[in-house]
Amino acid sequence: MSKNTIIYLIAAVAATGGLLFGFDTGVINVALPSLREQLQLTPSQESMVVGAVLFGAMFGPFISGFLTDKLGRKKINIIASLVFVVGSILAAIAPDTNSLIAGRLLLGLAIGIVAATVPLYLAELSPKDKRGRMVTFFQLAITLGILLSYVVGYIFGDAENAWRLMFWAGFVPAIILFVGMLLVPESPRWLLTKGRNEEALKVLTQLRKPDEAVAEYNETLKLLEEERLNKSSWMELFMPKLRIPLFIGIGIFAIQQFSGINAIIYYSTDIFKSLFSDSQAALATVGVGIVNSLATILGMQFLDKWGRKPLLYTGLIGTAVCLGTVGLAFLFESSLPAGLRQMMLVGGIYTYIIFFAISLGPLGWLLISEVYPLKIRGFASSMGSFNHWFFDLMVAISFPLMRATSLGKNGGIFFIYMIVVLLGLLFAKFVVFETKGLSLEDIEKKYN
Ligand code: GLC
Repeated sequence: MSKNTIIYLIAAVAATGGLLFGFDTGVINVALPSLREQLQLTPSQESMVVGAVLFGAMFGPFISGFLTDKLGRKKINIIASLVFVVGSILAAIAPDTNSLIAGRLLLGLAIGIVAATVPLYLAELSPKDKRGRMVTFFQLAITLGILLSYVVGYIFGDAENAWRLMFWAGFVPAIILFVGMLLVPESPRWLLTKGRNEEALKVLTQLRKPDEAVAEYNETLKLLEEERLNKSSWMELFMPKLRIPLFIGIGIFAIQQFSGINAIIYYSTDIFKSLFSDSQAALATVGVGIVNSLATILGMQFLDKWGRKPLLYTGLIGTAVCLGTVGLAFLFESSLPAGLRQMMLVGGIYTYIIFFAISLGPLGWLLISEVYPLKIRGFASSMGSFNHWFFDLMVAISFPLMRATSLGKNGGIFFIYMIVVLLGLLFAKFVVFETKGLSLEDIEKKYN
């Protein structure tokens, strides 16, 4: 088997964590109608069922933040996969609403752990010229998971116990992740931090040409030696010299989430229902899932070629125009011809997804996997991931609330998201720096 094939197989296993992330966050969208009917959810129970995953996910980074650097990237993912297995079973067999919420909380916890550790693991295993593409496998898997949940929802939508069948579907990738994680190697860079040098060199030789393996091994060792002399600790993340990477971890997810992506991912069916019949709206949602995955594949081709910053600019400008178009479709609802309004709404949302998927989507997870120094990488990337869940939860809660106000009727919500994205241009210009083609060690040298 060629070294490239091995790397891609490992990436596929690790990215199954992303598939579960996408599936378990997306599935609630399609499971809600049958949940409402069978469990007679009150509105507050409903928001707890929806929010439980995101709330649970906020705690995942704390667990992984302290354990990824201690136990290693592999073990922590094995633990997460077991939590996925238990959470999926609990959610699928839940006898009542409370058990369902408990199952969804566990699923969230597992999602929070993999979201903080898988991108990091992928970045540490990748050769520098493929890192963008490899880490984006994680984002691709998230989008495939979302798509899978929409398709499962479409297929089982009318079945008796539809929600149970949908939650059972999440059990399968959980088992795949568990078995796969037992087979993949540990991150060579993490092994070096633990003084397990021989094992690290062995892994590197499996994945790189012999001379590249030795060069990478020596470079990482040298860097670790310097770090040891400097006695760095995780507190360093808050020191002035790491201000830029700290801001990147906060800013990229603030902009990613307040661009409104999950208002669409979680509530698109609702939005489309104002234009179409129920089944057409469900189909249009599957369309969102397909466009999201295809555009992510497109973005993967460019991240290592064009660089992170050009894609970020393209994505920010593109999403801003689309959000403005959707906003205008709401604002001039009564004066626009129906056909044009439909085109502005559906076209605006689909094109928005394309621009998001080639830029903000993959860049969030990519940047937090590569901009931090090795010694604190696990902790720092976990903190970045926490920001994602915190902002995600805020959007998920505020969107339905804002929709019920005049902001929902006059397109105000979308104009707010547009302003955030435009502010993102300043962030892209003054905070983000280009990491294309640089090794993780080169990036780290920038801070010393
Ligand atoms: C990114 C975001 C996630 C979103 C997804 C949509 O992974 O981090 O919140 O649901 O993209 O594709």
